[in-house]
Amino acid sequence: MNVKMTLNGEPFSAETPSDSLLVDVLRLNGFTGTKEGCGVGVCGACTVIVNEVPVASCIYLAALAQGQDVWTVEGLTTKDPALLDAFVEKEGMQCGICTPGQVVSAYALGIENPKASESEIREFMAGNLCRCTGYVTITESVRTYLASK
Ligand code: FES
Ligand code: FES
Repeated sequence: MNVKMTLNGEPFSAETPSDSLLVDVLRLNGFTGTKEGCGVGVCGACTVIVNEVPVASCIYLAALAQGQDVWTVEGLTTKDPALLDAFVEKEGMQCGICTPGQVVSAYALGIENPKASESEIREFMAGNLCRCTGYVTITESVRTYLASK
């Protein structure tokens, strides 16, 4: 099938099998910022925004994105530089696998609850797993990003 969407604010289309997952279509077309960790919708590494809502692109058919407004970490950090600045300033990353999903979810929280408390930040970000930072610097990064809004 030919899947068409708005991707990072630009028209995008790709020929792909009808059962392709969105994470695969993105990565095969150069949007490698979106990572695949668990592949079963649990870790959050593959998070992208579809119509202003975070989705796990590893369990989301590309066909469902037909005609939708999709944003990846590449587009979001270009559109809103404060996002990346906050993670750099607070050192909220280490491995590069979970970080894109953390950044995308931080953006989503900025849409849903820009005045989130620390506990609300932690609850919202609970679907983004990190196996090494202990979440303190990630939470600080998200808090710093929200403060910029
Ligand atoms: S790779 Fe999609 S949730 Fe883990
Ligand atoms: S920084 Fe990616 S798993 Fe911890």
